[in-house]
Amino acid sequence: MTDKQLTVALSKGRIMTDTLRLLHEAGIPVPEDIEESRKLILESPDGSIRYILAKPVDVPTYVEYGVADIGIVGKDVLLEAERDLYELLDLGIGRCRMCVCGLPDSKGGMVSRVASKYARIAANHFRNQGQQVEVIYLNGSVELAPLIGLADRIVDLVETGRTLAENGLVIHEEILQISTRVVANRMSFRLKSEQIDSLVARLRGVTEQTERTVTGGGLQQ
Ligand code: PRP
Repeated sequence: MTDKQLTVALSKGRIMTDTLRLLHEAGIPVPEDIEESRKLILESPDGSIRYILAKPVDVPTYVEYGVADIGIVGKDVLLEAERDLYELLDLGIGRCRMCVCGLPDSKGGMVSRVASKYARIAANHFRNQGQQVEVIYLNGSVELAPLIGLADRIVDLVETGRTLAENGLVIHEEILQISTRVVANRMSFRLKSEQIDSLVARLRGVTEQTERTVTGGGLQQ
């Protein structure tokens, strides 16, 4: 590892393929076997970037502690983690919505228990609305909670809406729009400003290009 080298933490899972596509389009060097490999640390062929493949929920931790200079991760994870980072760019991928959901017949009913993988976001949302609720943390398959009587509502991500529909649940309220962000460690942002600026500028170039095509060309993409 050299002083010039950037360490970039990527989120494994859902957003990985779109993230790698954007990196490619931006001309940012990526190891060829990054998607097939089981390695957790990989270097770009020119040695300029070291990639860490992390669980999304851990990406803000790596970046705050400075073991990664840059992280690519969802806004949902960032809001829940509340880490001290710089958010530099919205990549416009991994778009979905954070919503309050539940059974249709519970609409307008009393909410006393809310289950979520995003316990902090859920608690903040109901507190801001002046509602006192008990938030129950679950690690996944949160849609189960209203079906088996654990909670009246869930706070969860909705992308296509298929998970909700297939389980007979509906959206009661949208909390916010989510997409993938580029974040930086505060110290790295100063000490490696040249490399970070260049990486962000390249990525901004392709994200703006994508947005222009979508806006200018209707639904061509
Ligand atoms: C996410 C989210 C919803 C689902 C939404 O779960 O928590 O359950 O995707 O997608 P849809 O609207 O396209 O159906 P994920 O698959 O990441 O697994 P998890 O339930 O274990 O968190």
